[in-house]
Amino acid sequence: MKTEYLDKSATDRAAELLSAGQLVALPTETVYGLAADASNPAAVAATFQAKGRPADHPLIVHLSSVEEMAFWAASVPPEAWALANKFWPGPLTLLLERGKLVDDVITGGRDTVALRLPAHPLFLLVLKRLGRAVTAPSANRHKRLSPTSAEHVRRELDGRIGAVLDGGDCAFGLESTILDLTGTPLILRPGPISATDIEACLGRPVAQPTEHSVAVAGNMREHYRPQAPVWLVPADSLETVVGQMQAGRFGVLHLPGNRPAVGQCVEMPPAAQDFGAHLYRQMRNMDESGCEVILIEEPPAGATWSAIRDRLRRAAVSVAAEARVINEALQSQ
Ligand code: TXA
Ligand code: MG
Repeated sequence: MKTEYLDKSATDRAAELLSAGQLVALPTETVYGLAADASNPAAVAATFQAKGRPADHPLIVHLSSVEEMAFWAASVPPEAWALANKFWPGPLTLLLERGKLVDDVITGGRDTVALRLPAHPLFLLVLKRLGRAVTAPSANRHKRLSPTSAEHVRRELDGRIGAVLDGGDCAFGLESTILDLTGTPLILRPGPISATDIEACLGRPVAQPTEHSVAVAGNMREHYRPQAPVWLVPADSLETVVGQMQAGRFGVLHLPGNRPAVGQCVEMPPAAQDFGAHLYRQMRNMDESGCEVILIEEPPAGATWSAIRDRLRRAAVSVAAEARVINEALQSQ
């Protein structure tokens, strides 16, 4: 299949391809999504094929209006309306009981459905033109890093999908927050909308994920990974670990003021939102420049870093305590 590359003026073409049952990668404010017409089960099924994703990892339905929630969900609790009115369009996904008309191919046979209304203007134009919702997982091969530019999508899915609509770099660069509202509100995947934001809207506490939570289908421990192994290193050990590195080529993502003397070093922005926006891109760059290991300085504690810490824990094969062992293994290869 030849993949079409569409510039930002080609939203009509993107909608036309979706309407014809094709897969089209679209920009969102979080990461690029691989859209399919949510009312066309064959198109939705093709998404799993293109990504190499197991059928039991359900997809998020992307709506074009807040009111559409009532079609996809069996019932919409008042808290869901309140959150949607406050945070949509935006990076919050709500998990609700599924409506009768939702196809099993979308939910992987579960009795819940994930819904979100994205904030990217091009995505919204395509939805408006199409006139109905689309499913959209991140537009990467299964288990790989989510793409934050059209070029990243090309490297992941060229020849496997109908088109990519280029909307530039994604503003957040990390996937949406997923909030389960089928019981006591529970964050299944931390993201740009924080627990504090949600609590302020609901006026009651929300449960936070435990480390390595598997509550979200497909939210397995090994996810969001580049190809090179990632080691998470505490700030005060970075210089020492770098000094002991035996790998031929290694990259280091560090915070300002902590640049090691050797290695392919990239200084990350000190603010959580900017750090998040650059993280996947920098990990991809390090893979592409042939790094055998990527060392990442552990980000600070604090609520604003919680989505970043979550993704880094999943990306990492090791923390500094194990680094010496891995180093020795590399040396003896
Ligand atoms: O920011 C985002 O959410 C991006 C953009 C494209 O919107 N989408 C995204 O989709 O990250 P995906 O499929 O890569 O990640 C969604 C996660 C998956 O782990 C999926 O299994 C889970 O949400 N999920 C979707 N529906 C679910 C459901 N009904 N129950 C449990 N988990 C669900
Ligand atoms: Mg994904």
